[in-house]
Amino acid sequence: MSTTLITGGRVITATRDSVEDILIEDGRIARLGDLGDFPADRVVDASGKLVIPGGIDPHTHMDTPAGDTFISDDFYTGTVAAAVGGTTTIIDFPIQEKGDDPRVSLEEWFGKSEGKAAIDWAFHQIIADLPPAYLPSLGALIDEGVSSFKLFMAYPNAWMLDDGAIFSALQWTSDNGGLIMLHCENGPAIEVLIQQAIAAGHTEPRFHAATRPSIAEGEATSRAIALAEIARVPVYVVHMSAAEALSAVGLARGRGLPVYAETCPQYLLLSEDKLASPGFQGAKYVCSPPLRDPSHHDKLWEGLAAGNLQVVSTDHAPFHYKDQKQMGRGDFTKIPNGMPGVEWRVSLLYNFGVRENRISLNRWVEITSTNAAKLFGIYPQKGEIAPGSDGDVVIFDPDRPQTLSAETQMTNCDYNPYEGWTLQGAPDTVLVRGEPVVSDGQFVGRAGMGRFIKRRPAETLATDLIS
Ligand code: URP
Ligand code: ZN
Ligand code: ZN
Repeated sequence: MSTTLITGGRVITATRDSVEDILIEDGRIARLGDLGDFPADRVVDASGKLVIPGGIDPHTHMDTPAGDTFISDDFYTGTVAAAVGGTTTIIDFPIQEKGDDPRVSLEEWFGKSEGKAAIDWAFHQIIADLPPAYLPSLGALIDEGVSSFKLFMAYPNAWMLDDGAIFSALQWTSDNGGLIMLHCENGPAIEVLIQQAIAAGHTEPRFHAATRPSIAEGEATSRAIALAEIARVPVYVVHMSAAEALSAVGLARGRGLPVYAETCPQYLLLSEDKLASPGFQGAKYVCSPPLRDPSHHDKLWEGLAAGNLQVVSTDHAPFHYKDQKQMGRGDFTKIPNGMPGVEWRVSLLYNFGVRENRISLNRWVEITSTNAAKLFGIYPQKGEIAPGSDGDVVIFDPDRPQTLSAETQMTNCDYNPYEGWTLQGAPDTVLVRGEPVVSDGQFVGRAGMGRFIKRRPAETLATDLIS
């Protein structure tokens, strides 16, 4: 039996803040308290540091096809980046091909991830085609531990489902369990705006944002909530960027509806003026929904503090600038959508959230780890520091500065959206089930250390409104 003792750190969970030692035995937290002299195979001194549950990023895309190219991180490079950033579990997305049973893509994603991931991982299934014959497959996916499904109200030429199919899926989860996650943008209206922009010769990256107005996100979010209310079922809104969408969630939650939402660091910290960067540099910041004007940032921060937003994920979707983003020169619709983020989420939220007094330390842990574990059926195995939980622990040094740069990052991408930003605070040591994956800020793990985590359907959601 291997044992690790973490001594003298300030343990922060969603609800606690106290100096405690932590004993990890055989990958699980065994004891907490004053354990200073307890014999252990490995002792890690965490004095002066914050000790938090490993981060959970419930929205990443590794090794994923996108038009004629692929996301530049695979399950090794992407999970190394996650680990050095203090994330010990990611939830990624197999994408169903139209005409295929969704389980076909799940098998494919097992092939991409097994033996490669350096941290634990789980899957949500993207459903891009839902004739009634495929509905029972959702049950088979839940049996395999894939208990949430992402559906799109956008991308009419690729993955969008109409309202009828979305409503059928919501009704199915009402009867059978599982959680529907929705990409909320009004795809058909956006498509009209895109065609008009291209016809007018407006082809530069900034027109990506101009053709995806925030009201189109707000409308789709309201519609998603209405469909879920009719189906009497919880719903989770992914990668929220717009104040209009947040108001819709706030109104619904005010009425007691089990509506949940995540945002991402780019929507809190970067604005649409980046898309008008000189030359073609704006392509680096093309993602959907798009970056918004800065007036949305404060609203999203307030939503995080007040509990109308429960989770910060990243929508990690990196593409190289040099040979991938270039595919959209002369036509912004061909720029692969997405940007990297998994490596900096926990630190960005500490620097701009905790240090700038927008959120408390407990809330930082809750929105970067605990709430995702609860919403996606892996709590208290993940997202908690308590006896019985996995020994996924981050020792975070609040005094360690880090400067973000493509030169030094582990993410396989030739740019960093936060290039040159200096943050105060960084992960020092990261353990996955008691095994070190990061020591003194450096990756020390190996490919294949991660395990696939089977998730339960989050069965209590209808009555337990997580904030
Ligand atoms: O631009 C983005 N968000 N790319 C990833 C696909 C998605 O919609 O999550
Ligand atoms: Zn999406
Ligand atoms: Zn995504």
